[in-house]
Amino acid sequence: MPKIKKIGVLTGGGDAPGLNAVIRAVVKAAYNAGVEVIGLEDSFDGLIYPEKSRTLTPRDVTGILRLGGTILGTVNRGNPFAEPIVTPQGTFNYGERVVDMFGKMGLDALVCIGGDGTLAISYEFYKMGVPLVCVPKTIDNDIVGTTSCFGFDTAVDFATNAIDRLHSTAEAHRRIMVVEVMGRYAGWIALHSGVAGGADVILIPEIPYDVEKVAECTRQREARGARFSIVVVAEGARPVDGGLSVIEAARTGHAERLGGAGALCSRQLGDRTGKETRHVVLGHLQRGGSPTAFDRTLATRFGGKAVELLLHGQFGKMVANHPPDLVPIPIGEVVGKTKTVPLDYDLLLTARSLGVSFGD
Ligand code: F6P
Repeated sequence: MPKIKKIGVLTGGGDAPGLNAVIRAVVKAAYNAGVEVIGLEDSFDGLIYPEKSRTLTPRDVTGILRLGGTILGTVNRGNPFAEPIVTPQGTFNYGERVVDMFGKMGLDALVCIGGDGTLAISYEFYKMGVPLVCVPKTIDNDIVGTTSCFGFDTAVDFATNAIDRLHSTAEAHRRIMVVEVMGRYAGWIALHSGVAGGADVILIPEIPYDVEKVAECTRQREARGARFSIVVVAEGARPVDGGLSVIEAARTGHAERLGGAGALCSRQLGDRTGKETRHVVLGHLQRGGSPTAFDRTLATRFGGKAVELLLHGQFGKMVANHPPDLVPIPIGEVVGKTKTVPLDYDLLLTARSLGVSFGD
């Protein structure tokens, strides 16, 4: 096995709190093992445009542990292999350019930090001969093979705080407050924040909802003397007789954008119950800000483990959290799959047993 002397690190896809903590851990662990680290900016663009890469030393990552975002920048371009790359040096095939530049920069391996899209792109490059290890990242918690990803805890924490705040205003006005949270096609953020925030109704993509059942839940609460209801709606939730709420259809290089599920549910509930309803969309606030202690720790562990795997020649692997351990799993087992909330998940069953409605 050739000795690893120089590695690149990049962040791809939507940002998640904890990305900087991974970068910091990679840089420090590599440096202490005598390995040089090149920071690649804007995901794989750092391997396309020579000006988008720089050496990172422990000094460069001082103080970033607690910062949201990513010091390397990121892009979310769907399938980058679809289009040729135009650079001042000429027009290139995307895949060939990245592989060529990887060699020209003298890199021995890559740490690719990203979600499903970045994992899929990285897997292509691995098959093209680039030695690499992936670190899973998503606030949605929908990557298969790992029990958790950094960013999720921070997003849930933020959404829970928002739900806490909505309780008092909902009660003061006797309203139904609908909170739309992110999560794409999985209901993890909605379920966890809904339970932590004491929501009365939680609507998730995995369980299409009947709005009449949701309305009935709020009526029963009124009958018991409750003056308000809190409904948490995942952006991917849909009524039994309707489709996903989409604000922008998928187009070349861009995934479809979800949005509007909360507004729809709020309108339907207002019509059915005659009560005042309001909706709030938490949106990108869930991705911003400082990572929680849990996410900083997990991100740091992921970064350290990624370097360890590279040093041991364990390429083509994704670091996965299998408590209490971190384990390498083949990237090929992960790409193209989505981890949704199982209908027998204990938190879901517990919520049901406490009387939380899922609209079914
Ligand atoms: O995957 C993370 C996520 O925040 C989803 O929850 C959300 O649907 C999507 O990204 C939003 O993407 P963008 O930042 O491109 O609007």
